[in-house]
Amino acid sequence: MHITLYHTHPSLYRDVAQLFIDSLRNNPKTVWGLATGSTPIEIYKHLVAHYQKDAFDTRFLTTFNLDEYVGLSASSDQSYAHFMSRHLWDALNLQPNQRHIPNGLASDLVSECERYETLILEHPIHIQLLGIGSNGHIAFNEPGTPFDSKTHVVTLDSKTRMDNARFFDALHSVPHQAITMGISTIMKAQKIVLVATGQNKAKAIQAMLEGPISESCPASILRNHPNLFIYLDDKAASLLNTHLLNRG
Ligand code: PGA
Repeated sequence: MHITLYHTHPSLYRDVAQLFIDSLRNNPKTVWGLATGSTPIEIYKHLVAHYQKDAFDTRFLTTFNLDEYVGLSASSDQSYAHFMSRHLWDALNLQPNQRHIPNGLASDLVSECERYETLILEHPIHIQLLGIGSNGHIAFNEPGTPFDSKTHVVTLDSKTRMDNARFFDALHSVPHQAITMGISTIMKAQKIVLVATGQNKAKAIQAMLEGPISESCPASILRNHPNLFIYLDDKAASLLNTHLLNRG
């Protein structure tokens, strides 16, 4: 596990974006695992800026997103498919067959989860971007999710719905369900890059790194991953006692 701490956000986001660019330069057919939420937005801006300067070629890139709300269409402003089109997919010129996200409108959600899990097994993820919820969730794997879970339908925690209400007109508009990669799906990625910034992530980061490895903090299992890179700002790291921190 490598933990890198930053005073300022621009250098943090730039360094994380560079990991993804490097993976694509090393292997033009690389597979990226992508995330939504506030955390990735600046990282995606760096990727788009580099792409526009011809820094890398996306023709053979494949991407998989972590999760999607149930009941929102890809054209809905709040869907994660819409978020990805707006912040990354379109600007990187990714074609529909290159970019994957669960279909939250599938009539048979269980079959959709199986389809998505199989697709990932066929295209193993080389580098997975992750945020962390203030309750320690990764993707939409809420506290209590079994560590051996595969892609599944989840009922969202009330804390998660409140955290995400800022993207909706009101709390009651936040969907109650989502499809998410499971914890075992995420753990299969060759490399995992977790990014957390801000004081509201400090408790989750402390529980993840210094608490027990327990299903009550889904992110804690990442400590068992052989190739985990954690990027934190000072606020997210403010409750850590660890002396393992490097400065970025
Ligand atoms: P955020 O969400 O990037 O919007 O803080 C992270 C998460 O809930 O995983």
